[in-house]
Amino acid sequence: MYENFIDLRKDCFSCNKCPLGETRTNLVFGVGNETADILFVGEGPGENEDLQGEPFVGKAGKLLDKYLEVIGLDRNKNIYIANIVKCRPPQNRDPQEDEQEACINWLREQTRLIKPKIIVCLGRIAATRLISPDFKVTRQHGQFIKKGNIYFMGTFHPAALLRNESQKADALWDFQNLREKIKELEINI
Ligand code: URA
Repeated sequence: MYENFIDLRKDCFSCNKCPLGETRTNLVFGVGNETADILFVGEGPGENEDLQGEPFVGKAGKLLDKYLEVIGLDRNKNIYIANIVKCRPPQNRDPQEDEQEACINWLREQTRLIKPKIIVCLGRIAATRLISPDFKVTRQHGQFIKKGNIYFMGTFHPAALLRNESQKADALWDFQNLREKIKELEINI
């Protein structure tokens, strides 16, 4: 258990608990406000993220930033963004179960320090890992589920929205629903 982000980052950056550590250019720890009430979680870094060391900086990230902006959220101000795995899986394949297992403790520690009130899971990998193993994004997106003190919501992965434009309206609805939850919980953003 870590007392602060400085120690957590230091240990995380030297992690070699799984083979993804051998092929990474940069470990992608996370970005944003370390005291934010809202945490977004993706699945793992892609090529651009691996090169730049920051989550969601490619095309999908630009789309995510647009959705965030619509509801007054900003990665540099009032949210934190992290991933289930911190190192890029080769060819952007899904992170394997054993890789997720090796990495998940870093996210647990980040969550413990951030103490978010809301966690938004971006896509199937994050939602099945953090909400429930049988979570179906197409059926359950936008719904809030309270576990402990935290409200969880799963929505579409922005990369999936780039491939399937017809889901963009549903995604917008999810973000508006998130805005309502922020108001309901009287979260200052
Ligand atoms: N996709 C993710 O799930 N995470 C990133 O950081 C980038 C793309």
